[in-house]
Amino acid sequence: MYQIYPRSYADLDGDGIGDLPGITARLDHLVELGADAVWLSPFYPSPQADAGYDVADYRDVDPLFGQLADADALIGEAHSRGLRVIVDLVPNHTSSAHPWFGAALAAAPGSAERQRYIFRDGRGTSGEEPPNDWQSVFGGPAWTRTKDVDGQPGQWYLHLFDPGQPDLNWDRPEVRAEFLDILRFWLDRGVDGFRVDVAHGLIKQADFADWSYPLEPMFGEGTEGPRPPMWDQDGVHDIYRDWRQVVDSYPGERILVAEAWVQPAERLAAYVRPDEMHQAFNFEYLEAPWTAPAQYAVITRSLEATAAVGAPTTWVLSNHDVIRHATRLALPVGQTRPNGIGADDPQPDAVLGLRRARAATLLMLALPGSAYLFQGEELGLPEHTTMPDEARQDPTWERSGHVHKGRDGCRVPIPWESDAPSYGFGPTDRSWLPQPSLYAEYALDLQRGVAGSTYELYRTALRLRRELALGRGTVYWLTSPDDVIHFQNGNLSVLTNFGPTSFPLPEGATVLQSSEPLTPDNHVPTDVTVWFHP
Ligand code: GLC
Repeated sequence: MYQIYPRSYADLDGDGIGDLPGITARLDHLVELGADAVWLSPFYPSPQADAGYDVADYRDVDPLFGQLADADALIGEAHSRGLRVIVDLVPNHTSSAHPWFGAALAAAPGSAERQRYIFRDGRGTSGEEPPNDWQSVFGGPAWTRTKDVDGQPGQWYLHLFDPGQPDLNWDRPEVRAEFLDILRFWLDRGVDGFRVDVAHGLIKQADFADWSYPLEPMFGEGTEGPRPPMWDQDGVHDIYRDWRQVVDSYPGERILVAEAWVQPAERLAAYVRPDEMHQAFNFEYLEAPWTAPAQYAVITRSLEATAAVGAPTTWVLSNHDVIRHATRLALPVGQTRPNGIGADDPQPDAVLGLRRARAATLLMLALPGSAYLFQGEELGLPEHTTMPDEARQDPTWERSGHVHKGRDGCRVPIPWESDAPSYGFGPTDRSWLPQPSLYAEYALDLQRGVAGSTYELYRTALRLRRELALGRGTVYWLTSPDDVIHFQNGNLSVLTNFGPTSFPLPEGATVLQSSEPLTPDNHVPTDVTVWFHP
């Protein structure tokens, strides 16, 4: 499954922001790469307070990206190439520009309009304090005070993310009915399913009690201690059971994929029980340290947890919310994943990062289940780690008081041609986030057909993955010393060496592919994965 971030994939009209016709024009790339399906991040009408994850109209396309007819054309062209298409659905919150929120502000406290969202009176003598101490994922309070129609300070509304993303109240039947209808709208247009944004956030603990722990479980911190009152409440599962019925009522195979930052793996597995979603992103895998014991443990745990509910396991190393793995894997092993890297931070070693990224990818693509790729990783693209602060667009940067750089560094438009304006992203040199000049070295045209390039590594791995049916296989662990993991999937052997010294391949092994060349005497060097027949 290949994730397209529409803003940054291909810009056909040259305004510096990618668009749907640009994606359609570049679908052949995905066929050549060997992807089976595409997930499109949001392209709906939006003020773009959070790069489109603030949706003002769930049934249309933002003029930035094209028109509804362009979405239809994209879906049709993808299908004609044998590619499936899933779209992003954002049910936890709407945009503050959604008509429902406008109606809520115009209506009185307690009205039906307000009850579609989460409005509360403030604390303190005149309601001047937020209703509780919850913090927004992007930083600052999770509540914003509104003004009444007469201009006087009024109630507060909850936004777990940006103030431009008010949380919906999923206790209201009207909200539930609306989203069933939105699902049908896109299913009728032929989409093969949905990636469900913040799937673990829709239901809040009813008492809205204070939460004194640090609140950043979304982005990798704060996962210790009791379960937070805003995440992974049991009530979310009823919603997905309803959705599953709708999805199943359509012909073909249509799927629901949960974006749920939930640990441990057993709690995450609850989202993919037989009558709920089909898959859930495996962020525990993404966050596992680059050591043999940690990788062994996370792979085993992930496989066991999903096997217990009969769902496929998923694997992901990069997406639009985290530091690209070609950079992240060069950070000190065991360090908490930072939320962005800036020019004033220590700069990770790009050579080491790419070497480990290639090894990690080859390991991931040998595992059974679904692998999710993020646009640009097939080029070995690093994070933009020296972006000027004034170019940053992620609300995280401002709302964290410039503590967290945020997610812009992984969202930069990708390079197609080394020697073209905007590296072939569009016909002009415009680009909504600045592209670092080193992206020229990673452009697709320098890697296509070049033996040993990261692009050809991905292509070969995806071709073999399909031919050997690795996605439907099973992992059978072979004994390994501490610094090495070694397993068999079908008759393919996979070995990754994390240790400081090279490791000998068994006598007589036939190598199919390795993430870097082996030594002349067939040893696997440090930070290398090899696929072989024993
Ligand atoms: C998800 C998205 C992220 C967005 C957030 C709020 O985590 O992946 O990009 O900011 O939800 O919608």
